[in-house]
Amino acid sequence: MADMKQQIQKRRTFAIISHPDAGKTTLTEKFLLYGGAINLAGSVKGKATARHAVSDWMEIEKERGISVTSSVLQFNYDNYCINILDTPGHQDFSEDTYRTLMAADSAVMVIDGSKGVEAQTRKLFKVCVMRHIPIFTFINKMDRDANDTFALLDEIEKELGIATCPINWPIGSGKEFKGVYDRNTRKITTFSDTARGTKEGASKEISIDDSSLSDEIGEAFREQLIEEIELLDGASAEFDMELVSKGKLSPVFFGSALTNFGVETFLKHFLQMTSSPLPRVSDCGIVDPFNKNFSAFVFKIQANMNKAHRDRIAFMRICSGKFEAGMEVMHVQGNKKLRLSQPQQLMAQERKIVEEAYAGDIIGVFDPGLFSIGDTFCTGAEKFAYEGIPTFAPEHFARVRQVDTMKRKQFVKGISQIAQEGAIQVFQEYQTGMEEIIVGVVGVLQFDVLRYRLENEYNVDIRMENLPYEHIRWIENENIDLDKITGTSDMKKIQDLKGQPLLLFVNSWSIGMTLERNEGLELSEFGR
Ligand code: G4P
Repeated sequence: MADMKQQIQKRRTFAIISHPDAGKTTLTEKFLLYGGAINLAGSVKGKATARHAVSDWMEIEKERGISVTSSVLQFNYDNYCINILDTPGHQDFSEDTYRTLMAADSAVMVIDGSKGVEAQTRKLFKVCVMRHIPIFTFINKMDRDANDTFALLDEIEKELGIATCPINWPIGSGKEFKGVYDRNTRKITTFSDTARGTKEGASKEISIDDSSLSDEIGEAFREQLIEEIELLDGASAEFDMELVSKGKLSPVFFGSALTNFGVETFLKHFLQMTSSPLPRVSDCGIVDPFNKNFSAFVFKIQANMNKAHRDRIAFMRICSGKFEAGMEVMHVQGNKKLRLSQPQQLMAQERKIVEEAYAGDIIGVFDPGLFSIGDTFCTGAEKFAYEGIPTFAPEHFARVRQVDTMKRKQFVKGISQIAQEGAIQVFQEYQTGMEEIIVGVVGVLQFDVLRYRLENEYNVDIRMENLPYEHIRWIENENIDLDKITGTSDMKKIQDLKGQPLLLFVNSWSIGMTLERNEGLELSEFGR
């Protein structure tokens, strides 16, 4: 028992969110480097080839050199056991990216100092806010010309609606990047180039009151720093751990992942400020992670490589207790006891079979086709289910039909199974049924995945017609008469497979108009 408690206490499970190219991969590599999980930075997923080592899945991945599904990396550092949930970016951005955040206890937001808040950061950030998880900001690429620091913080506060509290402060940027000032210790760590992080930097620590400071960074920068710190002390929010843990205040750090500057400081502070796995809400009340009974929920299902068997791997986040290979667990939604087989875990670059795992960890188990996203597993006398995972608004829609009408059965089966895995969302025309279906996806790549899998696994060719809609809204009002809703001319009424009504819009202006025209109408971006 004591051992279990210790194991759980040292766990930190978080996701790194960013817009593509802000430096998430580079930062992850540097983290792994500190943890000794890899020997050389650059080997986690060098843009194309090395990635396959981590998730060697479908032909599409191999062809394009991208990772279609997200994975988890576990490593130890400084007596912590760290689980980094990888949120796929680029074109492979999908619902999985959002769902991964449901499994995290906190998030690290990487922002490119020369670009500020970008589209994808904004989307992922919304999910973090919905979950009230702590968000830590790392402003990256300070070795390149960055935007004005105050303007960057202002942008985060205004655009994302979260207060910021800089823990350190940059001195210059780009060619003039001199280092960072730690507001707590009142010391400056000087920047030195580390040849893209491959050699030890010769950086120094100097107190802000040290007379040699102007020799190190130049008198003009020293004066500017003192001025900025005064301004900052007067203007920025006080550090308040309570607000940080509620996701209302984001501690901000500056650095350069590529040159390995400020990364370890960030990691150390971050690990101290984040908490070990937190209690989670279930339909029988709050479940404590230290509870001796094992419990977990599925947040991702990945179709497996072996198309002959259509086997799948269900990734689950352990929320309480200890997992032991071969243990019998209750699959709550299936109302059945079973043994989880082939439990796997991803350690830096390789998959391995796990013998034991603890609250905070992620394991992948073989899914014979019985599990769905959001399902709960538990042991112990009491049976309970964790809160469901919301459905995230798709942004791309297409009308899909099979080419050969004789293959209707395979088509429906394939579409339903792929939807059950959560890769696509399926809708129907309002009141006309399943003849033609509308598929919604969060990232366009999912359309290719759908076509590929229907052809290869179900032997069905499809025709796809892209639709112009970009926004979907669930209707929150109970018992609303959809016929009575008057929207803009480009609005479309549809329903999901449970018969719940939804609205499609071409642009956000139409959403506003529709809300104006229908008093009392409540629309939501997340489905239940
Ligand atoms: P991502 O996972 O968020 O998409 O970003 P990634 O780490 O792949 O970084 C995107 C590009 O930005 C990479 O350059 C990377 O080397 C560079 N980069 C990351 N951190 C820093 C930094 O602190 N300073 C500077 N100057 N550059 C940084 P690339 O040319 O696309 O790839 P590569 O050939 O360097 O690997």
